[in-house]
Amino acid sequence: ISLKSYNTFGIDVKAKQFISITSVEELKTIYSSENNSSKFILGGGSNMLLTKDIDALVMHINLKGKQIISQTDENALVKANAGENWHEFVLWTLENNLGGLENLSLIPGNVGTSPIQNIGAYGVELKDSFHSCDALNLETLDIETFTNSNCNFGYRNSIFKQEAKGKYIILSVVFKLSSTNHVLHTNYGAIKSELEQRHILKPSIQDVSKAVISIRQSKLPDPKEIGNSGSFFKNPIISKAKFSRLKSNFPNAPHYEVSEQDVKVPAGWLIETAGFKGKTLGKYGVHKKQALVLVNYGGASGSDILKFSKLIQDTVLRLFDISIEAEVNII
Ligand code: EPU
Repeated sequence: ISLKSYNTFGIDVKAKQFISITSVEELKTIYSSENNSSKFILGGGSNMLLTKDIDALVMHINLKGKQIISQTDENALVKANAGENWHEFVLWTLENNLGGLENLSLIPGNVGTSPIQNIGAYGVELKDSFHSCDALNLETLDIETFTNSNCNFGYRNSIFKQEAKGKYIILSVVFKLSSTNHVLHTNYGAIKSELEQRHILKPSIQDVSKAVISIRQSKLPDPKEIGNSGSFFKNPIISKAKFSRLKSNFPNAPHYEVSEQDVKVPAGWLIETAGFKGKTLGKYGVHKKQALVLVNYGGASGSDILKFSKLIQDTVLRLFDISIEAEVNII
């Protein structure tokens, strides 16, 4: 079958076999059978670039269900199964007046893949509200629980991209959210001005979510209209020494301090300064409003987009002596 509607980039490649998984038992049966054919795990398909047909059994993780497990006056533990759509889940927490995920509104993808790259936006990361997750160990078929500290979360990083890579399927995630005294994160540039424009002086978590949604909608392409996987590259972290060399050639270069030694430079700025913002090559290109996002205007192949991404990386390296790494998984 075609995977076109299963990846937000809208790349038309085929799967040799495809199954939609709706129970943990099904998964265990597949992994305990004699059949050793290769398997490919697919969540929301929002962080991948498919460059060829998948010669494997594609398992679409479609485990549904969400519930409040326990709640006190201060906080609540909320559990969602892996196949729940991330944004619908965030909206549901907000309907229940639970705080913590509002800045992560409108991020594409599913709950089950959110811990893998520790999704983050507008000054908040998943790890700030993540309590634990249950994952199926694909070797022992035991269900193991990973606590927040077990996950080794970092910037767009976790144990599931490092030593645990390919060894587990995340089945469900538990979040610890606030019931009252919500802590708002409105310092990330555009949120404050967005709230001011709406004349909101004492924002609620729902107001913050609405502000984030409108900022995202103004900058990021909607995958339902234009194929994309959000930020294609990670923002590079470089030494302060290297940054001062950059600064001497480009006095306006933006940066965020990440430690005593290092700063993060927005890859979007590097790509825009290299002249790629809005550049279109036939069916694909760089988004007009956000240079970090590569887009498929319809009918582009994954390998064309991959080639283009390498040209961007090479150009950025040549101009700034900075390597930018892909954030999306190249398959
Ligand atoms: N910039 C440009 N030109 C551009 C884009 C950005 O010069 O075309 C510069 C500007 O200086 C701007 C700065 O980059 O002030 C930061 O831009 P923005 O706030 O849009 O954030 P970002 O660094 O481009 C990151 C995340 C996004 C997340 C936003 C908001 C990464 C790789 N990306 O982007 O995440 O939504 O911050 O928090 O860390 C995603 O992961 O798919 C994603 C969209």
